[in-house]
Amino acid sequence: MARVLVTGSAGRLGSRLMGELAGRGHDAHGVDRDVLDVADWAAVRGFIGDLRPDIIIHAAAWTDVDGCAQEPARAYAENGLGAGNVAAAGAMVGALVAYISTNEVFDGLAERAYWEYDAPHPINPYGFSKWAGEQMVARANPRHQIIRTSWLFAHGGRNFIQSILGAAQAGKPLRVVTDEVANPTYNNDLAAAVVALVESGRPGTYHGVNEGYTSRYDFARYILDRTGYTDTPIAPITRADWPRPSTPPGACGLVNHAAAALGVRLRPWQPAVDAFLAAEGLLRE
Ligand SMILES: NC(=O)c1ccc[n+]([C@@H]2O[C@H](COP(=O)([O-])OP(=O)(O)OC[C@H]3O[C@@H](n4cnc5c(N)ncnc54)[C@H](OP(=O)(O)O)[C@@H]3O)[C@@H](O)[C@H]2O)c1
Repeated sequence: MARVLVTGSAGRLGSRLMGELAGRGHDAHGVDRDVLDVADWAAVRGFIGDLRPDIIIHAAAWTDVDGCAQEPARAYAENGLGAGNVAAAGAMVGALVAYISTNEVFDGLAERAYWEYDAPHPINPYGFSKWAGEQMVARANPRHQIIRTSWLFAHGGRNFIQSILGAAQAGKPLRVVTDEVANPTYNNDLAAAVVALVESGRPGTYHGVNEGYTSRYDFARYILDRTGYTDTPIAPITRADWPRPSTPPGACGLVNHAAAALGVRLRPWQPAVDAFLAAEGLLRE
């Protein structure tokens, strides 16, 4: 049993991590922005110095990618410097720090899915802020893990699956991009994988994603087909047809080699989506 601190414990991943850790017999402590702003170094050092956790899972982040594009300095302070604060305070008490990062540290221009060792090259302020966080964590604390994920879907929160189904249920026309590709990842699967990785104690960079990747368009089609909306059409569009403050990377699938080498694998995304839909009572066989 380890004493584990989870930042962002009120968020989608953080809240699931709390349950997963407790279920595995760990002494789980959660903290969120209302108690501790990770961008405040003195507060972070004091909080972690008092708690003296064995492990810190840093899941807190400003995840509004369009907001980050509009306020890049805030994104850097919270996602970059904040991660560095947590990692440095963790180093002072000898904690392993696991930093949850994103596929958006890559530019999406590679001709294959990204491996853990590929060189990051972010193209938007959210990606820059998370890449800054990765570097600060790595420099501040050699006992670190960087765990990149993408396109999380979680029970109870707002996500792509609920947006697509909400539009279909309301009979609204659906337009979805074909040129944005990543791994849809079930929050529950990721939380179990993160706990397994921190329990392994092995420092390194990992890709915590359900296996396989797809376009937003094909993901939307899969969701509709599995929920009885097979006749609902989707108009294929490109990112250029859907202007937004943040520019998402194009082909940004991730491959899990490093976690798999430790025996930590997430199932393919299709059965993961089915499990999510079944738990929501939405799956139509
Ligand atoms: N969701 C995805 O599709 C996705 C994809 C790739 C990577 N990730 C990464 O996965 C991790 C977890 O994501 P999530 O979807 O669970 O995020 P989430 O639901 O938005 O939760 C993040 C939590 O962190 C808190 N937080 C934000 N800034 C903070 C600060 N300065 N100090 C303290 N707490 C702060 C938030 O509080 P407020 O709500 O008050 O801001 C929120 O409770 C993040 O590191 C994210 O970058 C997510």
